[in-house]
Amino acid sequence: ATPELIDPFGRSVTYLRVSVTDRCDFRCVYCMAEDMTFLPKRDLLTLEELDRLSSAFVDRGVRRLRLTGGEPLVRKNIMHLVRSLSRHLVSGALDELTLTTNGSQLARHAAELADCGVKRLNVSLDTLDPDKFRHITRWGDLGRVLEGIHAAQAAGIKVKLNAVALKDFNEGELPFMLRWAHGEGMDLTFIETMPLGEIDEDRTDRYLSLKLVRSRLEREFTLRDIPYKTGGPARYVEVAETGGRLGFITPMSHNFCESCNRVRVTCTGTLYMCLGQEDAADLRGVMRSSDSDAALHRAIDEAIARKPKGHDFIIDRTTSRPAVARHMSVTGG
Ligand code: GTP
Ligand code: 5AD
Ligand code: SF4
Repeated sequence: ATPELIDPFGRSVTYLRVSVTDRCDFRCVYCMAEDMTFLPKRDLLTLEELDRLSSAFVDRGVRRLRLTGGEPLVRKNIMHLVRSLSRHLVSGALDELTLTTNGSQLARHAAELADCGVKRLNVSLDTLDPDKFRHITRWGDLGRVLEGIHAAQAAGIKVKLNAVALKDFNEGELPFMLRWAHGEGMDLTFIETMPLGEIDEDRTDRYLSLKLVRSRLEREFTLRDIPYKTGGPARYVEVAETGGRLGFITPMSHNFCESCNRVRVTCTGTLYMCLGQEDAADLRGVMRSSDSDAALHRAIDEAIARKPKGHDFIIDRTTSRPAVARHMSVTGG
């Protein structure tokens, strides 16, 4: 096997997202149903196994590692994993170790994350109105999330906010969020909602195209396309009025799969080659069958050889069935 992971379309896989738990302390309405069934804890990879698996990918040329969930900071002893993985930053094998978090537990972990070499964090925040925040997360406390964000900034971590743009929910608030985020020294990205997993409402009713959002923002702001890249799918603009950066993640209105550089591992050790496809490879069984990594590397190669060209999400008003049955919290965004 070659050391690098290259898929059939010539794309190099240099970015791994690891969902360390499918659980979350919130239940965002567009993400989860209120009564979600979570995986039995015995099915989870141990922290040691998560480390072994992530490190196998680092050996194969992965340069960026992002821990996600569910909510990564609700996984018991998660900081042990972060601490351990930070050795790859020290050795120079990794360029970035980071997390996507809802921020609820960030205040208590921020200093240690910074100490482990985490330089950037993405915090999911869809509204700045405390009542709306409680509604969308079903019980979340906005104040705690803001405390978490400020703690991360105080620890020297650069925070990027992620907001899913939702029709009739936060669409009117997006300009305000932009001014606020930039005023607080944060980048902000808007995300289009994707049809992943059953929720309690019809997502097509909430879908808002970021093409439309952009054209509305342009009545108020001057947006200039910039080549800034973080390794993710966002396309960024600079906002003249605020001097800040705004990203658009447009899986639905503008497919970016052509430049995909990533794969995902779930907390049970299932490798998904695409967020929007069902095909997967079980790496947990392979890992547990041998202490040597040879079989693991073979399984990874076989899987990468099947990485699909892209997702085929479509916005279809005639069916409310999600394109992919598993929730975002399983695959980790
Ligand atoms: P950076 O660019 O490193 O900041 O990360 P990112 O934007 O890729 O990571 P983040 O966790 O902030 O991702 C935000 C959201 O973008 C995810 O939750 C997904 O909704 C979406 N996203 C990220 N990667 C992909 C992808 O490969 N395909 C699709 N369809 N959506 C993605
Ligand atoms: N479509 C788009 N984004 C989603 N997220 C969760 N579910 C969906 C969905 N169906 C977002 C969260 C968070 C990130 C991890 O994924 O808001 O920002
Ligand atoms: Fe939890 Fe994030 Fe899903 Fe909200 S979007 S329920 S914070 S995993």
